[in-house]
Formats: sequence, C-alpha cells, structure tokens
Amino acid sequence: QTPAPGTVKHDQPLVVAHRGASAYAPENTIAAIDKARDMGFRWVENDVQRTKDGELVIMHDDTLKRTTNVEELYPDRAPWKVKDFTAAEIAKLDAGSWFSEKYAGQRVPTLKQYMRRVSHNHQKLVFEFKKPELYPGIEKQGLRILRNEGWLDKHHVKSKLVIQSFSADSVKTVHKLRPDVKTGFLGTHSVADLPAYARFADQINSTHTSISAAYVSAIHALRGPHGKPLEIFTWTVNDAPNAKRAAGFGVDGIITNTPDVVRKALRDG
Ligand code: G3P
Ligand code: CA
Repeated sequence: QTPAPGTVKHDQPLVVAHRGASAYAPENTIAAIDKARDMGFRWVENDVQRTKDGELVIMHDDTLKRTTNVEELYPDRAPWKVKDFTAAEIAKLDAGSWFSEKYAGQRVPTLKQYMRRVSHNHQKLVFEFKKPELYPGIEKQGLRILRNEGWLDKHHVKSKLVIQSFSADSVKTVHKLRPDVKTGFLGTHSVADLPAYARFADQINSTHTSISAAYVSAIHALRGPHGKPLEIFTWTVNDAPNAKRAAGFGVDGIITNTPDVVRKALRDG
C-alpha cells in the first residue's frame, strides 16, 4: 500500500561531533573523539594541518596559541604558527589544560595517531584540510596516510569517510587523486555555481545561519561526481531550535559541538 503523501518519514540527518565532542572535551584531541564515542556518536569531524618538518597534525587554528600552552613553553616564538613548529615541539604541548584541568596532558595528535584511534573506536570521519593553501601537496600526503591506515579501502570509502575543505582547489585535487573518495566543499555558495562544484564535490557544507529550504532543495536537485544527489552537512548547530530548523530543511548531516543536544532535538521532532 502506498502511504499517503506527506506521511513518509524522511531519514534523520547524521549527527557529526565537530572537532570531536568539543563542548565537553578539548577540541581535536583523542579525548574529544573518545567523548563522542562514549556519548554514542559514530561520526566525528577534524582539521588537518602540517608541521615545519612535514608531519600532519590535528589542529583547527593556524596558530597553536588558543588550544595549547605554547606561549608558556615557547615564549619567544610568536605568533606560534603550526607550520613554524616541529612535530617533536608540538608533541610536548598540553592541548587539554586550556579547556579544563581534567584534561591536562592531552596532546595534539598526529594524523596517524588520530586515525588509529578513530579506527579503534569504530568511528567515521569528516576530515578537513584546513588552510591547505599554506601546505602545498598536503592532499597527496594526507591521502597517503589514510591509505596506510586502511582508510581508503572499499569499505571505508563507501561509508566511513568524507574529505572536505573551504578551498575548491583542494577538494578538486582530492577528487582527482582519489575519485572514489566522497568529498565536501565548505562554504555558502551561489546556487548558480553549484553545478560546477557538483563535478568534484559530493557535498556542499554550509553554515546553518546561511541556509534555507530553497537552498537545500537546490543542492539536492543536483547530482555529484558519483551520480548521487548532492548532499549538505550544515554546521555548527549547537541548540535545539536550529537543529530542528536544519532538519526541517532536509539536510543530510548536522555538525555540532553538542551532539547530545542535537540528537535529543531530532528525537523530539
Ligand atoms: O565541518 C565544518 C566546520 O568545521 C567548518 O568550520 O572553522 O569549524 O573548521 P571550522
Ligand atoms: Ca573544521
């Protein structure tokens, strides 16, 4: 029997823990992804940059100042850019105390350490190349690490990984190097430009304050490089009214610092 129009329940958006469960544990640390796991969330998001000596690390800002004790350890090294510190120097930093004493001793993970933990936790990942223009060749290097960690096999590529960036060039590069990997282009874009982006991006991931029902429909009306409708994961939604609003527009994913708040809002409907 065909259900009456309007009675079919659409899938709820995926809930993605932004920088891990970053309202409850220091962002982009192992503690933050473990916290997401403990709260029952499979999907996490991160930010990937490169050290002076070429190691990939998990860090959002292009300086180490806000989320580590770098100023205290290296007072003469302002402005404390990620790209000006070696991996060994970064490994000494405390990336937890700024958030809470409870997390003192958390480290800035290398990408390799991070991927091992995501695998161990059976989690899924929205991986962001952050400021890739600062790090030539980071896409190839990041993909090599993902491959070595087993994340580019069929199973992972099919259902566990999205690689996104605010840089169209970076997303294009990832798509060119690994056409099988699902990609996301961050930002709010003109609807007229979306068909061009749909050639290399499977998702258009826009801030929730900029989206509307019409915008989400325009995204869904297009097909991405894998022949499937284009998706949208919106960010960063940390309260129930905005979670319900985004879900009402039919977004495919909600990226949030407070995954529990979003999950409850979606359940309450
Ligand atoms: O995943 C989307 C969101 O993380 C993009 O903004 O600045 O938090 O990396 P930002
Ligand atoms: Ca991010």
